[in-house]
Order: sequence, then C-alpha cells, then structure tokens
Amino acid sequence: MRGSLFRKKGIEDMLASVSKGNTLKKELGTFDLTMLGIGAIIGTGIFVLTGTGATTAGPGLIVSFIIAGLACLFAALAYAEFASTVPISGSAYTYTYATMGELLAFIIGWDLILEYLLAVSSVSVGWSGYFQSFLKGIGLELPVGLTAAPGAVKGATTYFNLPAFLIVMLITILLYVGVKASKRVNNIMVIVKVAVVLFFVVMAFTYVKPDNWTPFLPFGFNGVFAAAAIVFFAFIGFDAVASAAEETKNPKKNLPRGIVLSLLICTLLYVVVTGIMTGVVPFAQFEGVTNPVSSVLEVAGQNWAAAIIDIGAILGMTTVMLVMLYGQTRVMFAMSRDGLVPSILSKVHPKHGTPYISTWFFGITAALLGGFVPLDELASLVNIGTLSAFVLISIAVIVLRYTRPDLPRAFRCPAVPVIPALAVVFCVFLIYNLGSVTFIRFLIWLVIGLIVYFLYGRKHSKLNEY
Ligand code: ALA
Repeated sequence: MRGSLFRKKGIEDMLASVSKGNTLKKELGTFDLTMLGIGAIIGTGIFVLTGTGATTAGPGLIVSFIIAGLACLFAALAYAEFASTVPISGSAYTYTYATMGELLAFIIGWDLILEYLLAVSSVSVGWSGYFQSFLKGIGLELPVGLTAAPGAVKGATTYFNLPAFLIVMLITILLYVGVKASKRVNNIMVIVKVAVVLFFVVMAFTYVKPDNWTPFLPFGFNGVFAAAAIVFFAFIGFDAVASAAEETKNPKKNLPRGIVLSLLICTLLYVVVTGIMTGVVPFAQFEGVTNPVSSVLEVAGQNWAAAIIDIGAILGMTTVMLVMLYGQTRVMFAMSRDGLVPSILSKVHPKHGTPYISTWFFGITAALLGGFVPLDELASLVNIGTLSAFVLISIAVIVLRYTRPDLPRAFRCPAVPVIPALAVVFCVFLIYNLGSVTFIRFLIWLVIGLIVYFLYGRKHSKLNEY
C-alpha cells in the first residue's frame, strides 16, 4: 500500500493524531455552526445572481432554486454523515483521504481551492459594487481607475478594484487574530443579514402582482436548468461548516445539525425572496441589474428601504468572504499537516492559535485576484469545483458504508445508497448545465493539480513514513 495512489489514512489514526500537537482551539457549538453556515450561504447568490437567474428562467427561478437546493440537501446529508464520523479539520478532503485514497483526496483539496478561494474573490467584486453604490448614495465617489479590474467595465479605463482588495485584506486580519473574534463579528453580521432579508419580504410582499408570474416558464425547462446551475452558487457554503470540525465542541452532534439547519433556513428564504421579486417586477426588467433585490423596492418607490437592503447586502457578502477564507485556510491546514503541500501552511500562531501563514497567503492571493481580475465567469468555476467535490463525497459515503460498516456514526445519512446517489445525479446534471467552456477550464485546473501532486505531494506525503 505504501506507494499506492489509493493509499488511505486510517480513520482511527487520524482521530488519534489530532489529539496531540498541532491542534486548533475548540470553541464552536450548534448555534455558532448554523451562523457560520448562514454566514457562508446567503450572499452574492441571492443579492446579485438572482438578476441573471430571473432573466434566464423567468418566474420559474423558484424551481431552479429548489433543484439546486435539493442537490445541496442530498449532498449535505452525505457531508453530515462524514462530518459526524470523521470530525477532523479539512472537510471533504479529509473524508476522501480516509475512504478513497490519497490521489482523490488531493484532487478534492485542489477542487476546494476553486470553491473557497475564487468564491472569496468573486464575492469581493460583488461587494465592491454594492459598496460603491452605497458610497454614491452618500455623495462619495472613487476615482474611476480604482473601481474595477482592468477591462471589467465597457467604455472606461479601470486599473484596480480597490474596495474588493481592501475588504479581503480586512477579513484576513480578522482571521489572523483568531476564530473567536471572527466568530463574534460573523454572528452579529449574520443576524443583521437575515433581518434584512426578512425586512425585504415584509416590505415587498404587498406589491406582488400575481400576473407577473405568468408565463411561469417563459424559457421552458432549459431556462430553469441553466438558471439552477448559476444560482447553485447561492447555496455554496454550508460545507464550510464541516471544515470547522476540529474547532467544534461535541462535533458528532453539533456538526450535522449545523449543516442541515443552515441549509434549510437559507432554502426557505431564497424561495420566498425569489417568488416576491418576480411577483413585484416583471422578470425581463432584471436584465443587467447589479442590485436586483434592492431594485425591487426602488421600483415599488421605497428608496429608503432599498438603501437598508444595500447595507444588508454589504454585510451579507462580508460574512460569506469571512467563512470562505476560513474554510480555505483550514483545508490547506489539513493538507499541509499530511505533507501534501508545504508544512509552512500548517504553522499555528503561538498566541492566536490560528494557521497564520496560510491565512496571510490565501488572504493576499484572494485580495489580489479580486482587485485585478473581472471574476464574473469565474463564478461558474466556483460552482464546478464545488459540485465535483459533492459528487466525490457522496460516492465516498456509500463506499464507507461497505468498507467500514463498524465505524460509529453519530449521524447516518438516510436511505443509503439512494440519497447519496441522488446527490451524484443532481450534481452531475448541474455540471452538465454549466456548459463546455467551464468544463474545459476545470480540466486544465485539474491537470495543474495532478502535476503538483506528482512533483510534490506524493514525495512528501506523511504516509511515506509508515
Ligand atoms: N453562497 C455564497 C453566496 O451566495 C457563496 O455568495
């Protein structure tokens, strides 16, 4: 087994090795985890991408959200089983290492970079847009050159997206200082964000004209499926909860609860918000609108309420970046501790107890990407990276039931193998709907990952020592 591409880490060894040495502080409970999940989930997807979604699917966008939500729920149940069985930092990466071997685990970790790191960058660009519209509202404007990445705005010369860069640097500092401070900031922002979404529902509800819901499927089911592949982005994040396993109190109970609860709450909010949006404003009017949710209230003549939504969106997207960057550093922490990437990435700060070098490395990288790259198209790369991780995790749940039926599982995914198989079918279907260009880019990313694995990871893997 020593040199095999499918060599695995023993689950018992993994559980034992985290109890000595390089470990993280345990301070998160079910409530914190649910907040962490909602913090990662509600953001650009609902505040920005619903515009694109509405023009792609029409009022049927509700169905798109349900399809994407179901894919996530099935995958979430698989995640929850793993999280409760292998409560170790590293999320999908760690679970795959224990069940499907080193090569696939490395590939998953590599996929998760697409998910977490590029999500931080994409969301920072969306954040910057809302922030600039907020600044305009109070009479301030940035020099044009500093408002967007080069080539991002037609007809304007732009050099650097300064707000996007600065917000990611601020978040990096929070994470460097430690999970406790970040958790507190996150919890406050999540409460504000959910309150703002509910505020939207209450304010906009009375302006709904049911006529706007017909035709319900102006672009047929193709439109609904294409939109589902886009708005899948809105659900990304619940899996970041699983990456916090090592910092969780009683993870066997709290992790599955945190994952499923945060996902259910968000799905409900999305369906209600989307229904109201397309009920108040005819779907075609969302074309090119970058603040679709608050624009609904502007159409209704409630400008003050629209401004409140803008602030909520800014806060909402901030928490998404916070949790995503957190997830990225923790996955790298686990990969580095296993020797698959350089050990410097798992160095823990003596005072703050955080993986500080990896926090700075990924924070600065995400900030620069957000500053210099127009990331619209990369959102689909985020989706494909995440969906492929979900596929592998769902397969892994089934594999582990057969190979290690004896393992204690605090949470068992219901109806195995049906539910994980449904997760695979839904996720593959969404990948198919992302289109071939995204798929080819994804393959290129995978090839780069394989080169890194064979030139570095394989030689330095800690499993070589056994
Ligand atoms: N789900 C996250 C968002 O919507 C990534 O921004």
